[in-house]
Amino acid sequence: MAIAIDGPAASGKSSTAKAVARALGFHHVDSGALYRAATAARSRQAGAPETWTEASVIEAARIVSLAPTETGFTPLLDGQEAELEMRGDSATDNVSRVAQMPGVRNWVNSIVRKTGQEYDVVVDGRDIGTVVFPNARLKIFLIADPAERARRRLLERLGAEPSAPQISEETARILLRDELDAKQSGRARDAIVIDTTRLARADQIEKIVKLGREAMV
Ligand code: CDP
Repeated sequence: MAIAIDGPAASGKSSTAKAVARALGFHHVDSGALYRAATAARSRQAGAPETWTEASVIEAARIVSLAPTETGFTPLLDGQEAELEMRGDSATDNVSRVAQMPGVRNWVNSIVRKTGQEYDVVVDGRDIGTVVFPNARLKIFLIADPAERARRRLLERLGAEPSAPQISEETARILLRDELDAKQSGRARDAIVIDTTRLARADQIEKIVKLGREAMV
């Protein structure tokens, strides 16, 4: 069984998917982490991002493997954790370009689908309910106001409440990424939209877990 959680940049998909997977005993797969891993792997090699070819990204991504974690899987680079490299500004600024490459999308999709053949999964991304698992038992589309998404992302990164200028700078980055990702970010017609702008994290998770339990019977 697959549960798809899609939505725009920094809408809380991954942390929600992880908590939902934990509550239901499913495996969490973060498809965005695989796009980030491919981007970080390519960044380790020579050449400006504007010159990266699809073939060179796919070749670089050979160092990416999926390691099991307590709640699902995490990508490793050359057998090592590389969270900072994958979540840093450079990977974040270049990931949308890499995600436009059809060969890279196929690479991510086949890894994600394989996990879905072996386990019950909660997968988060942009096109999980539309392309990767169009028959997912439950599809959630998380949305939130851009400034609130920016505030949450900064809070997570800084560990402290961000200032107004920091929020507006991050909001601009998030909106730019939404624009660059628009092509693969359509909402599935049968997705349930949840606006989390004024929703507490715990309530949002509880709501999806409940929908997941209902979908399981
Ligand atoms: O967590 P955040 O929303 O910032 O992004 P992410 O889920 O880590 O995804 C990083 C990038 O991967 C996105 O900006 C998209 O360019 C790409 N992506 C995609 O194209 N399709 C997916 N299913 C997941 C991510």
